[in-house]
Amino acid sequence: MPITFDADSRTFHLHNGQVSYLMRVLENGTLGHLYFGGSLAATGSYGRLSGREFLGFSNRLGEPVALECPTPGIGDYRVPALVVEQPDGSTMLDPRFTSHRVFAGKPAIPGLPSTYVQSYDEAETLEILLVDTPANLEIRLFFTLYDDRPVITRSARVRNVGPAPAIVECAMSATLDLPDSDWEFVHLSGAWARECEVRTRRLEAGSQSIGSLRGASGHQHNPFLLLKRGSTTEESGEAFGLGLVYSGNFLAEAEVDSFDTTRLRIGINPEGFSWALEPGAEFCTPEAILVYSEAGLGALSDAFHGLYRDRLARGVWRDAPRPIVLNNWEATYFEFDEPRLLELAAAAQKLGIEMFVLDDGWFGRRDSDVSSLGDWTANLDKLPGGVEGVARQIEAMGLRFGLWIEPEMVSQRSQLYADHADWAVGVPARPRTEGRNQLVLDMTRPEVVDHLFDVLSDLLGRAPISYVKWDMNRNITEPFSASLPADRQREFFHRYILGTYELYERLTRAFPQVLFESCAGGGGRFDPGLLAFAPQAWASDDTDAIERLKIQWGTSLCYPVSSMAAHVSAVPNHQTGRITPLSTRAAVAFFGVLGYELDPIALSDEEREAVSSQIDYYKARRELFQRGRLVRLRSPFAGDGNETAWMTVSADLRRGVVGHYRVLNRPNRGPSRLRLRGLDPNASYRVSVWPAAEDAVSAANTGLRGGDELMRVGLLVASDDPIDSRRLGDFTARLFDLEAEKDPNVRGDA
Ligand code: GLA
Repeated sequence: MPITFDADSRTFHLHNGQVSYLMRVLENGTLGHLYFGGSLAATGSYGRLSGREFLGFSNRLGEPVALECPTPGIGDYRVPALVVEQPDGSTMLDPRFTSHRVFAGKPAIPGLPSTYVQSYDEAETLEILLVDTPANLEIRLFFTLYDDRPVITRSARVRNVGPAPAIVECAMSATLDLPDSDWEFVHLSGAWARECEVRTRRLEAGSQSIGSLRGASGHQHNPFLLLKRGSTTEESGEAFGLGLVYSGNFLAEAEVDSFDTTRLRIGINPEGFSWALEPGAEFCTPEAILVYSEAGLGALSDAFHGLYRDRLARGVWRDAPRPIVLNNWEATYFEFDEPRLLELAAAAQKLGIEMFVLDDGWFGRRDSDVSSLGDWTANLDKLPGGVEGVARQIEAMGLRFGLWIEPEMVSQRSQLYADHADWAVGVPARPRTEGRNQLVLDMTRPEVVDHLFDVLSDLLGRAPISYVKWDMNRNITEPFSASLPADRQREFFHRYILGTYELYERLTRAFPQVLFESCAGGGGRFDPGLLAFAPQAWASDDTDAIERLKIQWGTSLCYPVSSMAAHVSAVPNHQTGRITPLSTRAAVAFFGVLGYELDPIALSDEEREAVSSQIDYYKARRELFQRGRLVRLRSPFAGDGNETAWMTVSADLRRGVVGHYRVLNRPNRGPSRLRLRGLDPNASYRVSVWPAAEDAVSAANTGLRGGDELMRVGLLVASDDPIDSRRLGDFTARLFDLEAEKDPNVRGDA
């Protein structure tokens, strides 16, 4: 039993040989937090780890007792997990432990996506009931421990058991009290076209936080944070990671108090939020994911990747090889008609591409971004046979067909707006701010969700559509719903996301064979909440290979490669104007779900041949790229960022591909080596280099190399040959293909 309760010391121990999580019911009945970290022995009592109960106010600000569900008003002056305004207007809470139960498996959270189990024996769940009697509140905390992951999932539910309404002002999904503050706070922050930059800073006294108030998780900060020691690297040292399975306004915060303890909390952003709790009603928080690693950031990412890929993503596409697409966006933007699409598709088919994705511009009168969102019927001037007609012709070529939609939006110039102007989000009597010439539909209203479900299921039902790119291109302003009473307007943002989840849930259930990809102007809503519905996401509108190194590296801290769509696009790049070699663009996109976003007809014969061989290369290693273990080797955020390297390794360690990328070529730097990780030291790997080149680096690496040598000595990634150097130029990439020999005794340059 990985979850035990020692009745004498009233201590809970969640342990699976990888992590331990300890809590104790303190003398006064408050639930204390004792420990989360590396595995502790299952036997023995750990009650002594908390010497005393939380005594409340003692005039020592910041009493450093670790609490599992900290609340305001009791003398713990750090940030709380739960704030509820009670009928008398008070907000103090002092919940006490009442009971607990442990059960096999993991419950779903009503209305919200969450990680799951496939069989009951994969995980155990501890449910702890805390009661605040004067407040008439029951608080249930859920902790799930998977048997083979260094992960605890946590969520909370608050029920009003009194006769009068109460108001939830703040309900965090998790808090974590740590005994010291010697941590670095690492987060993924950025903007449109430069998502998920890795930012690192030392924790200091006071609060540091990231979050969103935009109505979506946002380009600015991802709902993920990690703490690491200053000495932690990719391969060693301690780190905690916190993720939130949520796509709306969130807060992730670390507070260091005057005794240098650290409180982490993650959940729905309390700013601008409240939730009216009628008698008998319950509020459910989203799920937080807590990961601990004592083997560096690599192991932390392994845990997030495995969980998100295998137990958050759902449906037939979870494990299936993801198709290579041609997306027409950067090839045509809004200017296309059926013959043009068919010629693009035919060219794509010849290259070995498997799916044609028709992006924005196919519906209503959409010839630019000023109109038609909401009118999800084909523009018959462009597509005389409708979506169905073009989709069937493309299918007849042997390709599958995918379609772009942006369901949550409406253009003022649209039939939908003419019919239902009141469905657009806005505060009556105030002007509505447009973003990208569009307004947002009020997803809190059931009739809006019903309408979108009907329209989209009609579309998906009539045409052979195998893939949907679900975009969301602006954030919310003037938040207000005509369908909510005045005292519930602060529920708007959460209800918006609940409505969006409901639409996703209904569509993915009705069309289980369709692969959904989420998108929000690139990675503006790349979060675990949407991964539950759409197993892949468009990581960024920035398709420049050099920019993508950082974006994909940062994203990979918590999201698996199988979730990151990455396309090869034309040069000069449409976002940066940069001209990079075609092989570099491919070598970066291979470490994602590969696609192309260019006009294949505009390529030269030589380029077409190169693309075709890239596709063959990827197909022969698709499983390895999409589902192998990603090992990060050299960070684009380290030093001057001139080099990046990462690799993927198969589960059986028999195959691998290493990607090495150099931004600028700097002459006369001398030879340099790249040490690999995660291979079998006893295996002998046949190394080959892509793209093939007759240069010193290729010559030095090609042949048989021991796993031990590759990990301890490394691959040669730069030679001191001046002729090679001159030939190389800037923005170069090399892939090193590793394939283990059957006979491990074969070594050397055989
Ligand atoms: C967003 C997406 C792009 C493209 C356009 C279409 O910006 O991120 O990939 O689909 O919308 O308008």
